[in-house]
Amino acid sequence: MQRDNLRSSGRPGPRIAGADLKVGPCLFVMVLSATLIACVRAVPRLSANGEVTIAPMVTSHCSDCHKRSVSDALPNALAVFDLDKPGWLAGIPSKHLEVEGAFPARLLPFADSKTAVKLRAVLDAELQRRRQAAN
Ligand code: HEC
Repeated sequence: MQRDNLRSSGRPGPRIAGADLKVGPCLFVMVLSATLIACVRAVPRLSANGEVTIAPMVTSHCSDCHKRSVSDALPNALAVFDLDKPGWLAGIPSKHLEVEGAFPARLLPFADSKTAVKLRAVLDAELQRRRQAAN
């Protein structure tokens, strides 16, 4: 009853109607921005996920020389990658990650067939990410 009275009297209707109009476009902009941010960040994220996937394997076989916090780590090895630096996978030159590259060649002898498949998938995704980033 009271609502009708408000409308017919020319005064603004229930407040909720006005609130909907303001929240709608605002939510749309927020969802749109979140989607755009997610897309822009998807490229580096791929590399980070792959890194996390293979980190246990790489750490257990390569950290003696390729991890700065290990006392015997070698400067020339750290120049190629340093397991203490997040983003270490992204810094390894592509030629070392390719099928015949030094990175899989050194790790594969330690990998069972399932781990080998996982390693190859991560390295392929990383190389693919770089090709896309270069375009
Ligand atoms: C005993 C020390 C040592 C260990 C362990 C080691 N590396 Fe290295 N690595 C080096 C050094 C030193 C270099 C720098 C190049 C050089 O002097 O031969 C290097 C270079 C590399 C390179 C660059 C290409 C090349 O051959 O120079 C890759 C890729 C690499 N290492 C991967 C690995 C991986 C993967 C592991 C673990 C399976 C590993 N390394 C374990 C010492 C080591």
